[in-house]
Amino acid sequence: MNILVLGGGGREHALAWAIKQNPKCDRLIVAPGNAGIALIAECADLKAENGALVVRFCEENAIDFVVIGPEGPLAAGVADALRGAGIACFGPSAAAARLEASKAFTKEICDAVGAPTAGWARFDNATDARSYITDKGLPLVIKADGLAAGKGVVIPETIDEALDAVKAMFGGNYDAAGSTVVIEEFMQGEEASFFVLVDGETCLPIGTAQDHKRVGEGDTGPNTGGMGAYSPAPVLTEALQEQAMAQIIRPMMAEMARRGMPYQGVLYAGLMIDKEQTRLVEYNVRFGDPECQVLMMRLGAQALDLMLACAEGRLEGCRVNWADDHAITVVMAANGYPGAYEKGSEIRGLDDLTADSRNMVFHAGTKNDHGRVVANGGRVLNVTARANSLREAHARAYAMLDGIDWPGGFCRSDIGWRAL
Ligand code: AMP
Ligand code: GLY
Repeated sequence: MNILVLGGGGREHALAWAIKQNPKCDRLIVAPGNAGIALIAECADLKAENGALVVRFCEENAIDFVVIGPEGPLAAGVADALRGAGIACFGPSAAAARLEASKAFTKEICDAVGAPTAGWARFDNATDARSYITDKGLPLVIKADGLAAGKGVVIPETIDEALDAVKAMFGGNYDAAGSTVVIEEFMQGEEASFFVLVDGETCLPIGTAQDHKRVGEGDTGPNTGGMGAYSPAPVLTEALQEQAMAQIIRPMMAEMARRGMPYQGVLYAGLMIDKEQTRLVEYNVRFGDPECQVLMMRLGAQALDLMLACAEGRLEGCRVNWADDHAITVVMAANGYPGAYEKGSEIRGLDDLTADSRNMVFHAGTKNDHGRVVANGGRVLNVTARANSLREAHARAYAMLDGIDWPGGFCRSDIGWRAL
């Protein structure tokens, strides 16, 4: 079959890498792709958020199945356009993608089924939000309702900081994302990510992971898109996974179907774990980046079969063939990230790193410049390894990093510290 993957980051490189290993895949196109993806798939220039253009591209290229990587095209209704044109597609409708695109919407669904989550209130003006903050006092978490590229959440340390956040959100700094503000109770605990495939009805867990959001060693410094991840996350035990399925995922997915917007795709649940209780922090309606890289490393070729079964409503009876293994990915980012950084510096030493099939370097922000691989983004490479233990995977990933010659980039040296 001919397959199109939308996106061009490390997540999409990992998706393409797994799909390519499955003999069902004849032709693989990734739009826009990147320098690493270009080594294993065709890359195409396509406006991924325009449903009509994506449908036309699929018809012209006889595409049988589309995998949508990032949230932008999902929130823009690209999955609806594809399914409307009779093209199989992995990813939720725009209506169901509101589980990521509106925090207030998700909280309402939580409340409708009694799913454990932080207490919350919603505001559509700054005056009410301000008096709520001064009444309640800290700790609180302040969130712009809509998609804000990971920048819409503020955990203020002072009341002034909280009031400033409200002002910025209502003041237009977040565009439409900030026209509604959600204020939440601050939850204590350890965070982990739980990934579940949902075909509208059946929910199938496909793994756990832990991300490292802060840029600095020991989880310090500003937030990023994620500096590294590993899977599985031991903190999410089998018992806690079953609890989250029973209390959060299954009832919420049933409520989505009941409301006429069945969810289809991967559901990425951010969970807070404290005293043997899981609570929902947030949903994303796509794979995490870089969490996808460790999940794909562990799932391999079966990822395509699972995504197809999900898209075709056949998840009931499907199972994941797990090896007893561990994967880790370390992000190399351009110096300066998540602040200002330069593009265009050359990266050397990538060629010989992946002779061992349990090693992989996924490309995130790279570009091919006349045969040289150059940095073309903030997060640039995902150095990834799989092994029988996290310790061994960790050692192999950091050994690969030693071989990469890129003075323009850096990584955290402590990825995996919680589990190690
Ligand atoms: P989000 O963009 O919703 O993932 O939030 C970003 C991060 O803020 C989460 O990954 C958590 O670390 C933190 N966070 C969000 N909501 C809460 C909460 N209610 N209590 C504690 N931490 C939170
Ligand atoms: N790594 C966090 C995310 O993909 O949202």
